[in-house]
Amino acid sequence: MNRFCGPAQWFGRTARAETTVGGQIVRPGQRVVYLTQSANRDPREFDNPDSFQWNRSIPRTLAFGLGQYFCIGVHVARLEERIILDEFLTRVSDYEIDVDAAIRRPSSFQLGFVELPVIVRATA
Ligand code: HEM
Repeated sequence: MNRFCGPAQWFGRTARAETTVGGQIVRPGQRVVYLTQSANRDPREFDNPDSFQWNRSIPRTLAFGLGQYFCIGVHVARLEERIILDEFLTRVSDYEIDVDAAIRRPSSFQLGFVELPVIVRATA
């Protein structure tokens, strides 16, 4: 889920030294935006990248950044995700997401829903 629909869409960096990114020279002081979620759908990295496969192998992803500023909350985030899924799937055996009633606020940075109604059809 972090690869397929991770909430953080992009981050910025300011170059301290001249470097080259994708064949483009970046000079000191110039700003670069890296698109985490675009990278997470890169077909050179992931087969069939626009498909959600819960058990696919994901050796690496930029969902939590990389290097010096790698997400310090990664373990809390993954724990929260696991708990909410475990608890939900333990209690609910059949459900449907009411996509038409879902609400997303416009944001270039964050992908997420403020409301995502779920119709519970059967409990476990
Ligand atoms: C699914 C949830 C989360 C996602 C997708 C996420 C994503 C990210 C990403 C991509 C970065 C790197 C930013 C960069 O490159 O500049 C980052 C940094 C950071 N995250 Fe998260 N994060 C999540 C949850 C959390 C949580 C739960 C916490 C705190 C408990 C947290 C605290 C931080 C902090 C403090 C940094 C900055 C680290 C630094 O600059 O050294 N994050 N996060």
